[in-house]
Amino acid sequence: MPVETITWKNGKIRYIDQTLLPRKVKFIDCASVPRLWKAIKRLEIRGAPAIGIAGALGVALAANNSKADTFEKFLAELRKEIKYLASSRPTAVNLFWALSRMECLAESNSFKPVATIKKILLKEALRILDEDKKSCRAMARYGASLVKNGDTILTHCNAGGLATADYGTALGVFFESKRQGKHIKVYADETRPLLQGARLTAWELMHEGIDVTLICDNMAASLMAKGKIDKVFVGADRIAANGDAANKIGTYNVAVLAKYHKIPFYVVAPVSTFDFNIRTGCDIPIEERDANEVRTIMGSHVAPAEVKVYNPAFDVTPNSLITAIVTEKGIFRKPYQKSLARLKRP
Ligand code: MRU
Repeated sequence: MPVETITWKNGKIRYIDQTLLPRKVKFIDCASVPRLWKAIKRLEIRGAPAIGIAGALGVALAANNSKADTFEKFLAELRKEIKYLASSRPTAVNLFWALSRMECLAESNSFKPVATIKKILLKEALRILDEDKKSCRAMARYGASLVKNGDTILTHCNAGGLATADYGTALGVFFESKRQGKHIKVYADETRPLLQGARLTAWELMHEGIDVTLICDNMAASLMAKGKIDKVFVGADRIAANGDAANKIGTYNVAVLAKYHKIPFYVVAPVSTFDFNIRTGCDIPIEERDANEVRTIMGSHVAPAEVKVYNPAFDVTPNSLITAIVTEKGIFRKPYQKSLARLKRP
């Protein structure tokens, strides 16, 4: 991968500031939970699995910074910081999954000295990071089995190494296909408003020597109509028990287009992106972001400063439009309610 997205270094969280890419490669050493909250909110750290890892490392950081001398005080502090981190972004379930895993672990070690629990929490956060690396590779292998030599693939947003700790989800499939010697071409949607496709996906794919062509979001239909797209691969931020999948705004448009043009549409996501407490996509909370993200492009106004704006960060693709969901545990097909049931955590 071009860079290590997020890691733990000398008692701090080191991450690459994705808002500056591809112009500038800048790493930040984050030493406080409020700074981490801001990094997640501003999309310095972004992408569902990476947000989950940030949350886990954030709990380890909060624990490390704590001066509490009893377990009760320590847990109370930790819970406050967990609640705060959980308020940073609402859609990617990986964040809540990681925070809850860390909180449960702290609770179940109540009989140990606080200093020991701090070490246990850091170890767990690094385990979550390591598990993500392994699931990226497994998803990539399963996903690559769906790719043929010569395929031209469309992707939306950034589901690459920058959104995870390693290979990415959808982009991992492309990296693995290339590693297997398959020649593929990728079209990357620019992904307005924040241009994750143009800034991040194009950068990652070029770095890995994959033939990538950047298009504006409104160009996908014409490419499909000309028969130029064989498959679509995207990531996800939260998948309901019935397979409805929330992903970056505009993904639903692509899925509708793919259905119309009879093009397979694949979602690639780790098990930590599934929310079995949510029956359908209607229950997925959709983040609405600042109006200026739409009024501007990279800080420059492209619309009247006072124009009304609607800026949902995600949309939900109904399961009926999804050909298959690729996870680290295998490939799942319709009916999803039934096939995905075997992924349910105890
Ligand atoms: O708002 P973002 O950039 O965090 O949104 C990210 C996406 O929607 C990605 O496509 C998704 O997280 C899949 S990441 C492997």
